[in-house]
Amino acid sequence: MEGQRASFGGKISAILVAAGSAIGLGSIWRFPYMAGEHGGAAFLLVYLLCVFVVGIPVMLGEFAVGRATKQNAVGGFRSLSKPWRWLGYNGVIGALFISGYYYVVAGWSLEYLVSSFTGLYSSSASFSEQFSAFQLSPRQAIYTVAFILLTHLIIIRGVEKGIEKASKVMMPALFIILIIMAVRVAFMPNAIEGYRFFLNPNFKEAFSADTIFTAIGQAFFSLSVGMGCMVTYASYFKSNNNLTGTSFSVALLTLLVAVLAGLVIFPAVFSAGLEPAEGASLIFVTLPEIFKDMPLAQLWSGVFFILLVLASLTSTISFHEVLTAYFAEEHKLSRKAATRLTSALSVALCMLTLFWTFDVDFAGLHLEKISFFDIFDYTTANILMPLGGLFTCIFVAWWMKKDFLQGEMTNHGKLRGRAFPLLYFTLRYITPLLIVYIFVKNLGLF
Ligand code: PFF
Repeated sequence: MEGQRASFGGKISAILVAAGSAIGLGSIWRFPYMAGEHGGAAFLLVYLLCVFVVGIPVMLGEFAVGRATKQNAVGGFRSLSKPWRWLGYNGVIGALFISGYYYVVAGWSLEYLVSSFTGLYSSSASFSEQFSAFQLSPRQAIYTVAFILLTHLIIIRGVEKGIEKASKVMMPALFIILIIMAVRVAFMPNAIEGYRFFLNPNFKEAFSADTIFTAIGQAFFSLSVGMGCMVTYASYFKSNNNLTGTSFSVALLTLLVAVLAGLVIFPAVFSAGLEPAEGASLIFVTLPEIFKDMPLAQLWSGVFFILLVLASLTSTISFHEVLTAYFAEEHKLSRKAATRLTSALSVALCMLTLFWTFDVDFAGLHLEKISFFDIFDYTTANILMPLGGLFTCIFVAWWMKKDFLQGEMTNHGKLRGRAFPLLYFTLRYITPLLIVYIFVKNLGLF
């Protein structure tokens, strides 16, 4: 089996592809949108904490399972312990739910990339009107399907050629472009207000149950952990990969992008007198407001949305791969057939999100126009992924013998693994207790 299975080239490749999965709409679209709604700097502070205390240990646990077993998420957990295969299914369901709305937002970025050059800046309608009009037009579905196709084409070329090559070019480009943007925005009038909002925490607000709950969900989502994605990717790592180093590098790169995105978006929002709690449309409505007053508006806008498309693509590839590897290996489909099935399911789920809303009228509760967009987003980031993370901790640090994680962290004695005692302790006690605490606190039980 091992001989036939593909693997990623070297150390840098492993970091690049895993960071490619992690860095995406989660850091550039979702992070500012959540931070804007949950107190800015307070949210950043709790998010930082969650990345270190929860994100890195869980990612390491997933890496260990994936590389030790060299299988998809379900096969990986199952081959270590049969009853735990359901943890892999949690990931498969998570990947399906994410597919159901992530491509829609990725489609928005594709639309904005194109319209940067074809009318976004020459229309007489406001940007907010243009965003609403786009959401009502059939173009939204077309761009969503186009994005699924783009992902499909990369996946169909296979693990090494497709994923690795794509990430190697996209990741460095992403950093360079973000840094240029952050520097440009610093010279805008009133930018200081944005820095204050994003960097100067109000401690009273920082530890509200809601902020913590949202921040931990954001940490899971942005690091692609808690749903078997890193299990799947690590199954392609080489046996000499330093898993601890890789997990730290991936988490730090992701953090850097999220912070850079905040440093681009909030000064820009305040400079233009806009609202940070705009919601899911935040970057799509506010950034064009800024670009329009800059020289070469179309170019700046095009560059930003190219960046968003590239970052999204390396992430869509990764959850597509969770499903493709699962269908291919667990249901004995050819890779081609598994890729096609995954893409077809993604199209179906996105159509559900785009064309169906429903009302809830139950036991005095009346909610109108509920859409699958919010259901998929909320359940994956706030429920499936934290629960997946919690059980990954229990599996790796309680169910498996201590040697399992130690062996993977030290490459069976070849590395020193000085961080092992601390990370093992964190995985065994701190991370699971923190996740449980946050769930209980959010339910208002104490
Ligand atoms: N981490 C990705 C992002 O921040 O955009 C989203 C994601 C990818 C979540 C893959 C989960 C996953 F398995």
